Amino acid sequence: MQFEVFTLLPEVFPSYLETSILKRAQERGLIKVNVHNIRDYTYDKHHVTDDTPYGGGGGMVMKPEPVFEAVEKVLDISPLQTSGKPDSTIPIILLTPQGRVFNQSIAKELSQYPRIALICGRYEGIDERIRKNLVTDEISIGDYVLTGGEIPALLVIDAVSRLLPNVLGDPTGAEDDSHAMGLLEYPHYTRPPEFRGDKVPDVLLSGDHAKIDKWRREQALERTFRKRPDMLEKAELSKDDLKFLENLEERGKKKEE
Ligand code: ADE
Repeated sequence: MQFEVFTLLPEVFPSYLETSILKRAQERGLIKVNVHNIRDYTYDKHHVTDDTPYGGGGGMVMKPEPVFEAVEKVLDISPLQTSGKPDSTIPIILLTPQGRVFNQSIAKELSQYPRIALICGRYEGIDERIRKNLVTDEISIGDYVLTGGEIPALLVIDAVSRLLPNVLGDPTGAEDDSHAMGLLEYPHYTRPPEFRGDKVPDVLLSGDHAKIDKWRREQALERTFRKRPDMLEKAELSKDDLKFLENLEERGKKKEE
């Protein structure tokens, strides 16, 4: 899968991308991340990428020309003379606090594409014509405002890449993740069997895999019930799951009485 990142701060990307799993994924040709400097697509003497807002007010606004030029050249899409979305099968995603809020299901959706473009905003804002006439999707990573879209772009690349075949060492790696099944993940333990008086639950040392699977499922259900009950509304639940949750609720009510 190929990511085309458009940014005014290309130097932000290598340190994260050249580490650990994403580094290995690139070396093995599973992902490719091309980082494009929007400033390289300016043709004036001072390589200006921002300007003051029409109508006044503070802050600077990202100019449309270099962003259109960069995206159209890299994706090889012909410039539109009139307004309207470009004819592109590649999602052109703007990272912005105004976008749909990123989650595991959007990561999965994006992982189906062979190539996606990510545009990182900077300054106080971007010229609205970028949003209206170039971008095909807008993603926010949460209800807070950062200084730019670079961290959000890295976050999207990370979450999408680890869903691709063979990126994680363990072939079932992404299947049991928190959120992958619509539940939070069960607790994990490794050696030593006892640490500062706290023991690993006996069931995990029992070697009984049916019992371990049941315990893990129940732990995942209980964690989700306590920490993120909103997720249970969308999760796929079996009859046994529902019975277990009903019992939890009953126990909770008894405690209150
Ligand atoms: N740029 C600034 N804040 C952002 C956010 N929360 N999500 C995506 N892009 C952003």
